[in-house]
Amino acid sequence: MKQRINQIPKKQILLGPPYLTGDEVKAVVGVIKSGQLSLGEQVEKFEKEVARFVGARYGVATSSGTTALHLAVKVAGIGYGDEVITTPFSFVASTNCFLYEGATPKFVDIDPDSFNLDPKKIEAAVTRKTRAILGVDIFGYPAEWKKIAQIAKKHRLKIIDDAAEALGAVYRGKSLGSLGWPTVFAFYPNKQMTTGEGGMVVTNSKAEFIKFKSLVNQGRAGDMQWLKHPSLGYNYRMTEVAAAMGRAQLKKLKQFLASRRQVAVWYGQRLAKVPGVNLIKANDKQHVRSWFIYVIRLDKKLNRDRVIKKLLAAGVPAKAYLPSIHLQPYMRRFGYKRGDFPVSEAVSASTLSLPFYTGMEEAVVDRVCEKLKKVIGKL
Ligand SMILES: Cc1ncc(COP(=O)(O)O)c(C=O)c1O
Repeated sequence: MKQRINQIPKKQILLGPPYLTGDEVKAVVGVIKSGQLSLGEQVEKFEKEVARFVGARYGVATSSGTTALHLAVKVAGIGYGDEVITTPFSFVASTNCFLYEGATPKFVDIDPDSFNLDPKKIEAAVTRKTRAILGVDIFGYPAEWKKIAQIAKKHRLKIIDDAAEALGAVYRGKSLGSLGWPTVFAFYPNKQMTTGEGGMVVTNSKAEFIKFKSLVNQGRAGDMQWLKHPSLGYNYRMTEVAAAMGRAQLKKLKQFLASRRQVAVWYGQRLAKVPGVNLIKANDKQHVRSWFIYVIRLDKKLNRDRVIKKLLAAGVPAKAYLPSIHLQPYMRRFGYKRGDFPVSEAVSASTLSLPFYTGMEEAVVDRVCEKLKKVIGKL
């Protein structure tokens, strides 16, 4: 792989830096020299290239994963008073995107192995007000889409896939993004590939594509004059600089994903037998994880927050990942409380993410694991 140019200090361990090379510099400088900073060919090409990569017909680039999710919510017709079935074990954006429209979250607890929506519990949450199921492929592991699709079909619900953490993941032999409903990817710097900030929604439907294209660009129709707006839209556009960086990253994505798999294998080899540490799985017959972060789950007897504190003191950045959304302070108005989703809460209380990134050297994985073992040994 080409050499990384964003520097990683020799003595410091970073949590999740991006992998940037001279290709990105060249691409960005090219855009600057062209003077075309917005609404140009970089975005158009990036959209087509990402769509092709994931096996979707169309892609629309956005300013972030969150804005792409919001567009998916708009196009699904989710609005005030509707309920959306979703997972509490996610980053807040997967719920915020429909709160913006006045819809209500209907959380369903997660499966203790995949950390995704528990397919056995979804149908009981459907009511007359349910409009959609918004599934998340948490930590890059595909949700149970076959079951979700069956329930959605039976109750005539829309489906949105928040694959912000799962670019490159495969479900039953198909890439996420190709399954037949709007799917969102995100390109924040800790993701599998980055545009700085950025996102994309992909779809196989031309009608949806046209709506996405209009909404992302102030509600303009593609063939209309600049100041004509048939509908209320947003400025959620991706810049040309970001798209050019994304195109350079996308060319290396297969290598990035392979490198991340390798780093995960190295971690697994070192941590598999450490008492109190439980690993998350890479694959089974129907799911192929795209490695986003490296998360471990600690046994109850280990105090996760103390482990993180001691790791930080030893120079290893680690994070409690993720808090359950229904317990966030701003969610109180929906009446959720501790105990509502015990699996999600237990996972939230026991998981932590370790340093993990494309191109992470085996020696650095070693250092992290040695320090983790020491910390755990002392507790
Ligand atoms: C599951 C999930 N959804 C949505 C997002 C939002 O993406 P962004 O930060 O690009 O807005 C993230 C970002 O980390 C995420 O992890």
